[in-house]
Amino acid sequence: MIYQFEISRTKHGDRTSRLQRIRWETADESATVASALTGMNADPDLRDENGEAVGHIFWECSCLQKKCGACAMRINGVPRLACDTPLSSLGKKPIRLEPLKKFPVIADLMTDRQIMFDNLREMKIWLDRECSQTEDRDGVAFEASRCLQCGCCLEVCPNFLPGGSFTGTAACVPASRIIAEMESPAQTELGCLYRKRIYEGCGKSLSCRNICPAGIDIDKLLVHSNATAVWNKSVHSPGKMLH
Ligand code: SF4
Ligand code: SF4
Ligand code: FES
Repeated sequence: MIYQFEISRTKHGDRTSRLQRIRWETADESATVASALTGMNADPDLRDENGEAVGHIFWECSCLQKKCGACAMRINGVPRLACDTPLSSLGKKPIRLEPLKKFPVIADLMTDRQIMFDNLREMKIWLDRECSQTEDRDGVAFEASRCLQCGCCLEVCPNFLPGGSFTGTAACVPASRIIAEMESPAQTELGCLYRKRIYEGCGKSLSCRNICPAGIDIDKLLVHSNATAVWNKSVHSPGKMLH
């Protein structure tokens, strides 16, 4: 199979980008965007449609199995994981690969998502004690712990701006993980930060709901954390999801 790509190319330290058109062939019917980029980078003689050498395409990956979130990029305009996007699902038109637009571009498809991790640090969203072991796969704690910190939800959020106070779903979901285990979250520092940096900034448009590559039930986590950390409602079982 032959695929046509349009790949956004940006040099290190440069703010301007250009689309490079590249033709890439594979016999692998299950090839993904990640395997295409790996294949292109493995070919030292790869040329674009003008015969220009393509050179190394910068992008990020680690697990290659939808576990780390590193390979998030815009694929045909939609934020997705490259390792979880089969080429066969993208139709016949050229496949456009671009970096996430809410974060500074380092080079090509690689962005600096440090702001997401800074937000987690500023809100002190981490486990500082042994957490409960649960088999409850319907619970808030389990659901929230599946976040990959990929940033796809921030990409589509109309209210998230890097540098702004609102942290978006990428912090809301991990915060829900901690809040789910608290007795009275509304009275804690995290409860206070949740109200200021998540609840008050979220327009509840739920654009983030269907974009999450982990398929996290974002609106249910929002409902649960808003109920406990904002409205001070108690939930019988701390990890239990509200329906
Ligand atoms: S509900 Fe809307 S405003 Fe709130 S985090 Fe999701 S996309 Fe952003
Ligand atoms: S909530 Fe989903 S889209 Fe947002 S960072 Fe976590 S895994 Fe990615
Ligand atoms: S490389 Fe880890 S999610 Fe794609």
